[in-house]
Amino acid sequence: MCGIVGYIGNNDSKEILLKGLEKLEYRGYDSAGIAVVNDNGVQVFKEKGRIADLRSIVDLDVLANTGIGHTRWATHGVPSHENAHPHQSNSGRYTLVHNGVIENYDHLKREYLQEIALKSDTDTEIIVQLIELFSKDLSTEEAFRETLKVLKGSYAIALLDKADNGTIYVAKNKSPLLVGLGDAFNVVASDAMAMIQVTDQYVELVDKEMVMVTKDEVIIKNLDGDIIERAPYTAELDASDIEKGTYPHYMLKEIDEQPVVIRNIIQKYQDENGALTIDENIVSAMKEADRIYIIAAGTSNHAGLVGKQFIEKMAKVPVEVHISSEFGYNIPLLSKKPLFIFISQSGETADSRAVLVSVKEMGHKALTITNVPGSTLSREADHTLLLHAGPEIAVASTKAYTAQIAVLAILAEVTAKAKGLSLGFNLVQELGIVANAIEILCDSKEAYEDIARSFLATTRNAFFIGRGIDYYVGLEGALKLKEISYIQAEGFAGGELKHGTIALIEDGTPIIALATQESVNLSIRGNVKEVVARGANPCIIAMKGLEQEGDTFIIPEVHELLTPLISVIPLQLISYYAALHRDCDVDKPRNLAKSVTVE
Ligand code: F6R
Repeated sequence: MCGIVGYIGNNDSKEILLKGLEKLEYRGYDSAGIAVVNDNGVQVFKEKGRIADLRSIVDLDVLANTGIGHTRWATHGVPSHENAHPHQSNSGRYTLVHNGVIENYDHLKREYLQEIALKSDTDTEIIVQLIELFSKDLSTEEAFRETLKVLKGSYAIALLDKADNGTIYVAKNKSPLLVGLGDAFNVVASDAMAMIQVTDQYVELVDKEMVMVTKDEVIIKNLDGDIIERAPYTAELDASDIEKGTYPHYMLKEIDEQPVVIRNIIQKYQDENGALTIDENIVSAMKEADRIYIIAAGTSNHAGLVGKQFIEKMAKVPVEVHISSEFGYNIPLLSKKPLFIFISQSGETADSRAVLVSVKEMGHKALTITNVPGSTLSREADHTLLLHAGPEIAVASTKAYTAQIAVLAILAEVTAKAKGLSLGFNLVQELGIVANAIEILCDSKEAYEDIARSFLATTRNAFFIGRGIDYYVGLEGALKLKEISYIQAEGFAGGELKHGTIALIEDGTPIIALATQESVNLSIRGNVKEVVARGANPCIIAMKGLEQEGDTFIIPEVHELLTPLISVIPLQLISYYAALHRDCDVDKPRNLAKSVTVE
């Protein structure tokens, strides 16, 4: 995780760096810092906490045209001033920010830095001290390159040399990094979002490349020192997409954006005749596969569980859904012709990427479903399907989840059609109904706020129950609630309660039950009765047509396979308001980061 930025040009760099870091705060917010260099040397400002804390200590009188910045999600070393980036070499000549994890940092310390007094507990400091050590006999460029050759692990690095304030040295391996091009300035960022205000022209960097960035030039080299030419691309990002506008939180804005996202997805995947369509290479890969393995983490994994239902029921291909971090070291027996589908909002999740690397090494085909074009998982897979959800900035994923489900439904439908299977319903029409239904749900926010206030404002725990597809939505509801409100929440299959969990039910325990499937409606209601008899406080979310007296929310009727797209909306809103009423930081929950680039 962590986010890095850099600026070199004719303007003062401080504000550009701070604004860029604010846009990257989703990548971590344990500490933040900037370093700027001018003819008087390097000035470092860093602070434990958020960018707002950093802002308050930056000396506005220091003017400098070159600088780098960092927002941290702690891996090695606690969040503290000492461990905050930028880190400096002992002579103060080199200053560096880093995103990633140096796996062999202990070895490097023993091998090269026995004599060097280290000032922090971070793996990052090793890099900057090594550059200084190697620079005794080498130029900065050579010392940087020699350092990169001995590093094992992941890194995106930006480096300043006090002796040359006209260059930022950057490099990447596994962690994301882009160089942005401007008129008489250039920038560096973990994500185009950070610098979209100043440029939409970006050059993608490839692993194990290093770049010398001056205000007029960007020179990319490989680790042998050979120059690499690469054309820039235009980032399709609207600066207004990354603003909150009048919303108090990104999460609420992103929940409200879901109808538009669903309509946008329909449009993006329609041909000129209005039929759903997908790249024919992807459809062939789906048709040829004898089994599909969905690999994903967190919310994306929950979307995968719903996607399994679509692909099995509509396209008749067996599907397994795996948590990426488990799959990595516990690979199951694979079928003869597997197809791997990686679902990842960010396209950067390290656990998923590790699996992608190993399955590619085994010679298997992979499709990535992601919101971020050009992301690592997209680049490294054989095929990509985009979510077209627009930037998701709140740490808790909402619109990416519904977008993933919608794209998986389209993938299943197009595959089914290509196999000559008839679905018996029109997915475009049904998704249109879903978009309208989400709009209706988003218009009744007060009801969810009331429930959150009365039901969850002081509770320590909460349970979500459902059967079949509702169970998967319950898992997502529980994850949403726990990550932003810190209420201990779990999702259970209704039938499993009596096998142990029911022991946890006591007077007032909140139970949120989902009842959207006719086939299990009576059974899930039986489960609700069981917990109510033991004192639980139920909130029942039922689909129109299946409702019973006393249900808390009736959600509009949609096709039974697509109910997760709407039953999740009350859960997202209840979680949002629960976090709000518990005074939690909704968009930036503690200990988390949006893009999890460490395994
Ligand atoms: C929860 C959440 C996480 C992510 C998970 C995977 O709200 O956002 O659980 O879903 O970290 O991230 P991606 O989808 O970027 O691979």
